[in-house]
Amino acid sequence: MPDKEDFDTDEILKRKYDRSVERLDRKSDRDRIRDKEDDGLKLVDTVFDNKTRLILFSMITKGFFDEISGAISTGKEANVYYAPIKDTGIVVKIFRIDAPSFRNMRPYMEGDHRFRSVKSSRAGFIEAWAKKEFKNLKRLEEHGIPAPKPIYSERNIVLMEFLGADDAVFPRLKDTKPVNPGNLYERLIRTVKDIYRKAMLVHADLSEFNILYHEKEDQFYIIDVGQGVLWDHPRAQEFLLRDLNNLNRYFGNLGVNIIELPKVYKWVTGDPVNDALLYSLEFDS
Ligand SMILES: Nc1ncnc2c1ncn2[C@@H]1O[C@H](COP(=O)(O)OP(=O)(O)OP(=O)(O)O)[C@@H](O)[C@H]1O
Ligand SMILES: [Mg+2]
Repeated sequence: MPDKEDFDTDEILKRKYDRSVERLDRKSDRDRIRDKEDDGLKLVDTVFDNKTRLILFSMITKGFFDEISGAISTGKEANVYYAPIKDTGIVVKIFRIDAPSFRNMRPYMEGDHRFRSVKSSRAGFIEAWAKKEFKNLKRLEEHGIPAPKPIYSERNIVLMEFLGADDAVFPRLKDTKPVNPGNLYERLIRTVKDIYRKAMLVHADLSEFNILYHEKEDQFYIIDVGQGVLWDHPRAQEFLLRDLNNLNRYFGNLGVNIIELPKVYKWVTGDPVNDALLYSLEFDS
């Protein structure tokens, strides 16, 4: 039997949790969808299903954070929240069980032998996706790649370091201007090489949208690594080429003297690029 003190603590935590979820429910009205199966009036919260709520609650009781205080970003695959703890905070990334881009996510999971036995259900898949983001973050941390430090992961939720200062998130590279674009380009392609050769991964969605930049320190961070694949994934070369092409496009537009794609690809991998892949990329863009 829990004693009264335990019960009180539970009650306080429960109330705290309910309040933060209520606040978020109000905030995430636009994330709600109409349930077409129903009479068209029922609203379904697409992020906080009951299981997600329970896990968030258990994370609070485990002491990972005190409450969820605000949405940093609401996207098609995941919502990202800020959760204060002590004098700082962490990021709570919740993958949507009903992600509309679910089908587009499949090619990044299939062919990754770490996830050979992923359940075919939607929930099972999204759960594995969250685990994949967590594992990829761990690999980056082990090899000193600038990225948020992973803290904990359970079901469709990943906890990680908050990248920001004074409660404000570092901007995406897309929304800011690097101090010295040429130097940043060089550091980023070195990082892609480290991700490939040391962490043995390909990010697979690398662009100015998934790089945060701290202007004051001239420091970048790679984020959003859920779709990252192992370097022996059947489509790893294609994904890597696309990542490098995105960097070349972004920095080329800033007037940086970029290294042409076949050359930078060979420098990263040690292998010459497959002409058919190069052609299909040029044809696409
Ligand atoms: N660790 C972090 N610290 C601070 N802000 C973060 C962190 N991780 C993500 N963010 C913020 O949340 C935004 C979305 O995160 P992320 O790119 O990981 O999700 P996403 O999968 O792209 O979501 P979607 O594609 O559905 O929009 C980022 O652009 C960034 O502003
Ligand atoms: Mg992103």
